[in-house]
Amino acid sequence: MHDIQQLLEAKRAKARLGGGQKRIDAQHTKGKLTARERIQVLLDEDTFEEWDMFVEHRCADFGMEGHKIPGDGVVTGYGMINGRLVFVFSQDFTVFGGALSEAHAEKICKIMDQAMKVGAPVIGLNDSGGARIQEGVASLGGYAEVFQRNVMASGVVPQISVIMGPCAGGAVYSPAITDFTFMVRDSSYMFVTGPEVVKTVTHETVTAEELGGASAHTHKSGVADLAYDNDVEALLMLRRFFNYLPLSNREKPPFRPSGDPAGRMDLSLNTLVPDNPNKPYDMKELIVKVTDDGDFFELQPDYASNIVIGFARMDGATVGVVANNPQVLAGCLDIKASVKAARFVRFCDAFGIPVITFVDVPGFMPGTSQEWGGIIKHGAKLLYAYAECTVPKITIITRKAYGGAYDVMASKHLRGDVNFAWPNAEIAVMGAKGAVEIIFREDKSDPAKLAAREAEYKARFANPFVAGARGYIDDVIQPHETRKRICRSLIMLKDKQLANPSRKHGNIPL
Ligand code: HXC
Repeated sequence: MHDIQQLLEAKRAKARLGGGQKRIDAQHTKGKLTARERIQVLLDEDTFEEWDMFVEHRCADFGMEGHKIPGDGVVTGYGMINGRLVFVFSQDFTVFGGALSEAHAEKICKIMDQAMKVGAPVIGLNDSGGARIQEGVASLGGYAEVFQRNVMASGVVPQISVIMGPCAGGAVYSPAITDFTFMVRDSSYMFVTGPEVVKTVTHETVTAEELGGASAHTHKSGVADLAYDNDVEALLMLRRFFNYLPLSNREKPPFRPSGDPAGRMDLSLNTLVPDNPNKPYDMKELIVKVTDDGDFFELQPDYASNIVIGFARMDGATVGVVANNPQVLAGCLDIKASVKAARFVRFCDAFGIPVITFVDVPGFMPGTSQEWGGIIKHGAKLLYAYAECTVPKITIITRKAYGGAYDVMASKHLRGDVNFAWPNAEIAVMGAKGAVEIIFREDKSDPAKLAAREAEYKARFANPFVAGARGYIDDVIQPHETRKRICRSLIMLKDKQLANPSRKHGNIPL
């Protein structure tokens, strides 16, 4: 018996050593933690249950039959984050560069299948050179098995990816399907093909960092939601982020009572919006002033920042916040902003998280680059997302709500449950100046007449009461009472039921 126990411990020790001390040291020298160290930081102490520590690959080509490392480059299992269940896989770069073999894929699939059965999120800590080259099609098949599960799990359990090393090829497509992606600055990359292939094919000279580093994906591509300075920071922030999410679509998002009174008024909000309608103001100031304890977990802050998205809590309940940002492009909706917000709204809808929308939008962005880039189709994504969304939707128009963008931003017509406007709101087809230049074209040569027409249009339409008279706005509220009115609305909507027609699935304009 004693011998068998010793054998087990020896096997465990071998598995824990992964690709060996030299490679572990190399990982540390790069400022990276090992796969197991990452799991330790992510999960509550002593909660990790590891599975498949003794799995080995089955490849017999290129001398691989004599080169097997227990665990085969990925640590898998489940544990707790703040006492709530989560499944985790953590790729071990010290073992064949974390490359995915058939056996490695099977381990990931096993925990994904289990997560689906019990209803718990899956977190992937990715550090992988992609398909295990020695295995050929078997590793491609392995990837496709993971992708298939990513798709089946989408909208059923939250899936989160953290990119913690050079992820290439297949290693980036699974994260792309997951709901949220975090990266680590200076040590993580994501690209379909690396700089060398790029040079051969397109003759561009580009570094890995430029091509697929955290900055590229949080500023330019929008592939990643957030970037952090090191592994520990990324994992600790992920623990915080996890607290906003439900474990699955079968349960309500977690409730975290706060000492912040639901009826709290904030008089400073009465002067947030400047008198001059063309002057920007800080929409995030409004968000942090109405949410519980000013706690707002923003996603994609550096990408399409003309729209703001993120999670917060109102009276203890998780809410998704979408807000136009008048400080960037005057808050116009463009292609990137529409896609960014649409995916977020769909996540909230899939997981029963109410959506609070703060509107100050002068319209869709005009111009050839937007039109030729397909703003019609991409803008329609946001429209589609809001229209199909059945979770509680509360909308507050703080200033402008013009044109199609008025319709899109969770208007009453798209089944907004509660639609408020601040007293200075302007709800119209377009701004007064543009409107009179079109409908009173004949007065163009007479500036005084045109100015009078503009003033007339403003007085008639630049207010919330025309929409209010039709019931498109449920109430015009004082800015300082915004938090109270949202919290009350959320209580009223707690048991909202609304279903879309039965169908296989809709056809969102992709
Ligand atoms: C097998 C791999 C590997 C891979 C790395 N290694 N990638 N082994 N299959 N895909 C091994 C290396 O041989 C090395 O082994 C160890 O991992 C560390 O790799 P290094 O190159 O020394 O590390 P580094 O300089 O940090 O570079 C990391 C890297 C680079 C950028 C990931 O290794 C790389 O470019 N790898 C290939 C990426 C790639 O083209 N993958 C296939 C994509 S195709 P030793 O023994 O020396 O430590 C794909 C298809 C799926 O994924 C598509 C699905 C849609």
